[in-house]
Amino acid sequence: MEEEYITALIALHTGLDRQGPGDGEFTHNLLRHLPPLPSRPRIADLGCGSGAGALLLAEHYQSPVLAVDSSAVFIQELRTRAHAAGLDALITSIEGDMGQLDWPQAGIDLLWSEGAAYNLGFERALGLWRPLLAAGGVAVVSELSWFTTEIPAPARTYWQAAYPEMETEAENCDRAIRAGFRVLDTPRLPSEAWWKNYYDPLRSRLATYPKTGLSPVEQTVLRDTEAEMTLFQQFSHCYGYTFYLLQASSP
Ligand SMILES: C[S@@+](CC[C@H](N)C(=O)[O-])C[C@H]1O[C@@H](n2cnc3c(N)ncnc32)[C@H](O)[C@@H]1O
Repeated sequence: MEEEYITALIALHTGLDRQGPGDGEFTHNLLRHLPPLPSRPRIADLGCGSGAGALLLAEHYQSPVLAVDSSAVFIQELRTRAHAAGLDALITSIEGDMGQLDWPQAGIDLLWSEGAAYNLGFERALGLWRPLLAAGGVAVVSELSWFTTEIPAPARTYWQAAYPEMETEAENCDRAIRAGFRVLDTPRLPSEAWWKNYYDPLRSRLATYPKTGLSPVEQTVLRDTEAEMTLFQQFSHCYGYTFYLLQASSP
């Protein structure tokens, strides 16, 4: 993606609680179903945005979280939010590339990544992150996935252009296994959560943009965002975010 497009996309998402679909209650429920972790697990949130996941995890476990994002804007927002929530002692916010982490091997008990792995490619991300996990460590990684193999043409055409590597849940499970994980569960984020926590706030933000004077790239970002929402309205039964609950398998 070209730089000007990414800058416009970041501007559109600045000040929102989330930069992608997710839900606090869904996350809390999911945490209840993870295998036992150490009482103060070492946690990483990769592609954390302004910290929806990192803040929840730090609060829930009262344990340190390394939160990484390549956007300086989102990292600054996370610092402000962590301070406001009294969690800044627990959250280390790092502006950096989640695909080039020079962290020690086996130092993370819970690796979290919501709506971000696709930037590296799902299987590549899992392969790069697997060595970071302690023995028996858990990874929770959400990935846009097809819920069916009978994909309607408009949805296929759109995602073929926007995210050609998008796959079915079965294929994503195989990718996770190849990357060195055991698949524990694959809950789907309900489509209502997309609207309530992500698309509705995004729609309100879009409404604040002026009708004239936008750069061509800004216009493209707005058009693409509208198109993505329209598509989801029609085809949310065919695709969505699946959360892959994974455990590091022994080599
Ligand atoms: C869809 S947003 C999700 C953000 C957050 N996890 C959430 O659910 O609100 C994807 C995030 O990945 C970040 N990102 C993309 N490529 C990255 C990279 N190579 N390293 C670190 N962060 C990256 C973007 O800046 C963006 O904040």
